Amino acid sequence: MSKSKITVIGAGNVGATTAQRIVEKEIGDVVLVDIVEDMPQGKCLDMAEAASVYGYDTKITGTNAYDETADSDIVVITSGLPRKPGMSRDDLLKVNADIVKSVTENVAVKSPNCILIIVSNPLDAMTYIAHKVSGFPKERVLGMAGVLDASRLATFISMELNVSIENINAFVLGGHGDSMVPSKRYTTVAGIPVSELIPKDRLEEIIQRTRDGGAEIVKLLKTGSAFYAPSASAVDMVESILKDKKKILPCATLCEGEYGIDGLFVGVPVKIGSRGAEKIIEINLDSEESSALKKSADEVKELCDKIDKML
Ligand code: NAI
Ligand code: 2OP
Repeated sequence: MSKSKITVIGAGNVGATTAQRIVEKEIGDVVLVDIVEDMPQGKCLDMAEAASVYGYDTKITGTNAYDETADSDIVVITSGLPRKPGMSRDDLLKVNADIVKSVTENVAVKSPNCILIIVSNPLDAMTYIAHKVSGFPKERVLGMAGVLDASRLATFISMELNVSIENINAFVLGGHGDSMVPSKRYTTVAGIPVSELIPKDRLEEIIQRTRDGGAEIVKLLKTGSAFYAPSASAVDMVESILKDKKKILPCATLCEGEYGIDGLFVGVPVKIGSRGAEKIIEINLDSEESSALKKSADEVKELCDKIDKML
């Protein structure tokens, strides 16, 4: 059986850690691309030299060009600038739009049948660009954010209740921005609605901490943004695709009428399998959740309108 091939574009914090997690889990062979000369080659050699200790046989290749990426099954795009303290994800719009556009063009030529997973920020807008530029069907273009945001919410609930993280099923909808929509009703602890276990005011604080989760890490790190949890989240999506697990994960997916959203990539629950985004799962939202999701989608639309003028 031939091994899967995963390309990761951007060998910075998120990209290199994503590559490391993939080779260590032996999910497939990895090609790591960056514009900085010699850097992806150096990181990949370093990871290859850990193989004997960890016992993995996955191949890892660092490069500054796209030839080695040809015929990848999945391409994870992490290239772009991360936030600096005080900077919003949207401040990154123009600079990362140009990067994601040129990267996607190169990827689509070399791997016309791959599934794209976008990580670069602002996430929902960058996923919109990748879809537009690649011309790929919507099933093969996904954005990673909801898995991370839900994981952060689960972490904070686990810390609060001092229960196993495995008991927590956290649910977050919407764009990957300050208006993301963590859901109290659909977040459960061993099947019990979280609102039965945590008082309302405290739960609101935890939800706000989730919305601010990215900024909290930026503030602590001083340079750069989060990468351990983001890379773990991207790899969860890669694994669900390559193993055809059909996990339902919150991902930025092109909505065409679902949840009243049309023509935008916004975080919604999606079944992730070998065909990519196989099915958006539509659930009932109450009026508070619906209006919060609409507000979040409106913010994504504002960015996409700017992108339409830029491209
Ligand atoms: P980083 O600065 O450590 O790495 C970015 C890498 O991209 C650098 O090595 C840079 O040389 C490379 N790069 C820039 N232009 C390129 C091009 N044209 N081709 C190939 N490589 C190129 O940044 P980090 O921390 O890895 O973050 C990457 C992006 O992911 C940022 O935009 C960040 O905001 C975003 N992010 C998104 C998350 C999400 O939940 N969607 C979570 C964490 C980060
Ligand atoms: C995060 O949420 C920076 O978007 C990134 O950590």
